[in-house]
Amino acid sequence: MTQRVLLIIGGGIAAYKSLDLIRRLRERGATVRVVLTRAAQEFVTPLAAGALSNERVFTDLFDLDDEREIGHIRLARDTDLIILAPATADLLAKMATGQANDLATAVLLATDKPVLAAPAMNPRMWSHPATRRNVHQLEADGIAFVGPNAGEMAERGEAGVGRMSEATEIAEAAAQLLAGLAPSKTGPLAGRHVLVTSGPTHEPIDPVRYIANRSSGKQGHAIAAAAASAGARVTLVSGPVTLNDPPGVTVIKVQTAAEMLSTVEAALPADIAIFAAAVADWRVAAAAGQKMKKTSDSAAPTLTLAVNPDILKSIAKRTPRRPALVIGFAAETDAVIPHAQKKRKDKAADWIVANDVSPATGTFGGDWNTVHLVTADGVTSWPPQSKDDVARRLIEQAAAWLAANQTEV
Ligand code: CTP
Repeated sequence: MTQRVLLIIGGGIAAYKSLDLIRRLRERGATVRVVLTRAAQEFVTPLAAGALSNERVFTDLFDLDDEREIGHIRLARDTDLIILAPATADLLAKMATGQANDLATAVLLATDKPVLAAPAMNPRMWSHPATRRNVHQLEADGIAFVGPNAGEMAERGEAGVGRMSEATEIAEAAAQLLAGLAPSKTGPLAGRHVLVTSGPTHEPIDPVRYIANRSSGKQGHAIAAAAASAGARVTLVSGPVTLNDPPGVTVIKVQTAAEMLSTVEAALPADIAIFAAAVADWRVAAAAGQKMKKTSDSAAPTLTLAVNPDILKSIAKRTPRRPALVIGFAAETDAVIPHAQKKRKDKAADWIVANDVSPATGTFGGDWNTVHLVTADGVTSWPPQSKDDVARRLIEQAAAWLAANQTEV
């Protein structure tokens, strides 16, 4: 690497790793110029960055001397690559909306060079819909990302996806970009395919009427989003819901259980399949082709039902292309754990996430969930938490399981 890198250091505890990054980039032969945001200077000093880069460090848009000698436009252009590390939630938001109210953001808006962002933030901030939207927008704008990784956060007791990639990983991604290659996605599920079903199904009675249930799709959609933010390629097969598509996820919309099954089969192979959809157990055996008319005030029609395919069971029991980890949900209103244990065996699922959906819990349609994870090893009851947290925790555990079992599709 004999190229010029402009390293913009954002304000976060991970900024100390960016000092190491300067060294790693220089070891690879790059010259490194550093811009420190105002917040970054709370964590690292211009003196340290200058000593390591052996170059002058830039800190403020309105430094008139700097603007005379080398304006932000030149700083943005006289480089082969810009690295933003740590890329804080705030910097990503500013970049995604084209703000330019300090030197770092002005450089990022003025540049026509490749930009590599290494996000670092609290896992909740990383998986927040606003950050998901911003990352999606930035990816569409051509910004490359490295990380974040999973692990312990600086905040005590916090773990999840949000740790900035290590300096060596960022330097490697930078080398790939400088060589004209797109850096591969990173994260605990990078290179993995995760398949998720979500929402209810609608089973037609006639062209205007259908059988449905109260599932909102919130839990399944949150799982798809969490898998995408862990670096996976995600296919979400969703019944009719009013939710937005999670960014960075391939969403395939279906109506009926039969459509959901064929779509899921077509999306295989997958490393992990998570069946969060509330699939209708029955469909109308012979849905009318025309709207059914009232024949008289007293005679109500009799609907004959047929059993729908069990999607989870048929995928879990297939031999070729069975996903390495098959996870089902069990919506129960009584004897939650015993029913879930029976369901795990009957449906050949590896794990069952059991939840109490009796009306008093408000689970259906609500934002919170109380679940028990049922595996071959036993039952773990999770404290009540948001559906986003359930999703993150489930994805973390699935990623850890996959890493330990090292199965590739
Ligand atoms: N499921 C499925 N296809 C079906 C029915 C259910 O894939 N036709 C999946 C759900 O996505 C969920 C799990 O099976 O992961 C359990 O769903 P649940 O509704 O709790 O179980 P049922 O099989 O419908 O059993 P019951 O209604 O008797 O509780």
